[in-house]
Amino acid sequence: MRTFLCLLFFPLWLSAIGISQVPPADQLKLMPLPSDFQVGNGRLAVNGSFSVALTGYREDRLSRAVERFLNTASRQTGLPIKKQSAHGDKAVLTIHTEHASKPLQEPGEDESYTLEITSAGAKLSAANPLGVMHGLQTFLQLIEATPEGFAVPAVTIRDRPRFVWRGLMIDVGRHFIPLDVLRRNLDGMEAVKLNVFHWHLSDNQGFRVESKKYPKLQEMGSDGLFYTQAEVRDLIEYARDRGIRVVPEFDMPGHSTSWFVGYPDLASAPGPYQIERKWGVFDPAMDPTRDNVYKFLDDFIGEMARLFADPYFHIGGDEVNGKQWDANPKIQEFKKAHNLQSNEALQTYFTQHVQKIVSKHHKMMVGWDEILSPGMPKDIVIQSWRGQESLGAATKQGYRGILSNGYYIDLNWAAARHYAVDPLADGAANLSPEEKGRILGGEATMWSEYVGPEIIDSRIWPRTAVIAERLWSAQNVTDVESMYSRMNQLSWRLDFLGLTHNVNRVPMLQRIAGKPGIDSLRVLADVVEPVKDYTREELAATAPTQEDPLNRLVDAVSPESEVAREFSQRVDGLIAGQCQDQAAMAEIRTALLSWRNNDDFLQPASSDSSLLREAAATSKNLARIAAVGLQAVDSIEHKETAPDSWVKAESALVQEAQKPNSAQLLLPVAPAVQKLVEASAATGACKGK
Ligand code: ACM
Repeated sequence: MRTFLCLLFFPLWLSAIGISQVPPADQLKLMPLPSDFQVGNGRLAVNGSFSVALTGYREDRLSRAVERFLNTASRQTGLPIKKQSAHGDKAVLTIHTEHASKPLQEPGEDESYTLEITSAGAKLSAANPLGVMHGLQTFLQLIEATPEGFAVPAVTIRDRPRFVWRGLMIDVGRHFIPLDVLRRNLDGMEAVKLNVFHWHLSDNQGFRVESKKYPKLQEMGSDGLFYTQAEVRDLIEYARDRGIRVVPEFDMPGHSTSWFVGYPDLASAPGPYQIERKWGVFDPAMDPTRDNVYKFLDDFIGEMARLFADPYFHIGGDEVNGKQWDANPKIQEFKKAHNLQSNEALQTYFTQHVQKIVSKHHKMMVGWDEILSPGMPKDIVIQSWRGQESLGAATKQGYRGILSNGYYIDLNWAAARHYAVDPLADGAANLSPEEKGRILGGEATMWSEYVGPEIIDSRIWPRTAVIAERLWSAQNVTDVESMYSRMNQLSWRLDFLGLTHNVNRVPMLQRIAGKPGIDSLRVLADVVEPVKDYTREELAATAPTQEDPLNRLVDAVSPESEVAREFSQRVDGLIAGQCQDQAAMAEIRTALLSWRNNDDFLQPASSDSSLLREAAATSKNLARIAAVGLQAVDSIEHKETAPDSWVKAESALVQEAQKPNSAQLLLPVAPAVQKLVEASAATGACKGK
């Protein structure tokens, strides 16, 4: 073991300072929470004399990681970075790396690290650069404001991930997502120790990579919105620098209309084809019966296999409706001749051929649940959008799997709902240890029907951080209050990385209002949420398309309202305490008053802007339920029992206000208001108060 080979001494700041308040262990604001840590005494100051030295194994990637670390620390603290050199034994933070990681990052490589911080200095040690990169992110999250200036707490952390495959999928087919947006999201992934970027590169609505062999793919299938091969290579390097693998997905045989615009011969019906503009499952599918399709795929996959270095290659395989196959007499004859009794069997025939092609080009195939069929080689990986049951079935047959069901971040669920999903629970709970070992991890999936560059960060962050924690931290790390507290802390720290989930909100609201003074809109925006699941399609007067602007209030608001979450908690606390807590009651009253009065300010402005007009009905509903809540609080406070007839009428009003409307907004405070109404009734929880 070499002691200090390197001498990358980074200028920075930091020096030991005296002991003040030591944070209790459960207040370390880390996400994901490390597998093991002990909080020590005192703090290490982050100030003008900080320095970093690399010892042991060295490579340029490590130097860049340290440089990035210093830049981020500087942005987080506002402290300038002064270049200065120091000897390894004098540096405030010494980083020791044992050896190189694999030239091509693989799932299962050692990602562990140890971080020891005392008031005198810090030492980060790892087997290879992957662990170092994770440890540096932990250090950044530990930097906090203290009465004496910025500092990190004294702590010893020994950390390693629970799962080896911790991913984020971004769909760039439905809406093209530019490279700068992808890069900043890779920065976010690095911050929460995710290690797979799954790049969903083609779908009915767009084919997004340059093919030199088949250029009509991008020329005719992308509206000019695609990544060149040089850009792809750069992004892969960018990800590798952050310990992140890049797995490409080319969805086939369905979800492939955009391929057929330039190459209609691949399809199961003659065409011509146009890029699909709507959302959903569509009929066009590749023709599994023709040799020219496999010849094309052999050439194409060969080209992409050379471009994308990762050993895994995703072929999609989901949601083939079979309609083109049913309507094609030649395909029907083929099925009979080959004794293929169903379209599922025909898809298996296709998938088996594609698997051989993928394997010929030295890759392991990944696909959604539908690719699982008898006889597939055991090196394929099943990505489950159907759930742990399906994942469990795959692992029982000897296949490896990753979970995405429950991690669909496009559905606008609360963070707590994603957090409760564990790859090894439910349908996977009864698997043998060996079968469980085949569950490699999971991936959050950012399908892009309703996101563009301006809002995608707000759909990914901060909620993806809690999925990252589920995949990194111990299975028993499940405290929801702690999770929200640490997620909210992380959320604003991500601003310093350039993520825009917080900072784009105000300009979007200003655009909706058509002016800078947006107080009343902000009050409304803070307390509403977009509809969940796939309701947005269901509520639309006309089918949504790729060309629709994403500039409405539903696009600007966060998937989960923190204001509503806190209000609901306060109401629950009030009722649990038999409505005795006067301070809680006063806070609830203040919130309700502000929501009731807000509409008086918002309505007059709503005629000035069509985007704001759409939100007027939601604002009115908020005012109505807030007024109901205030009446309920009055009777609770005056120890009056609300009459049944009032409870019935007002409950109906609250129910009505909860229904999603054409603005596609929800009022998540409505259930808490309903609880207040019930608490004020004779049969309510606060009876006998
Ligand atoms: C999927 O959601 N169709 C993978």
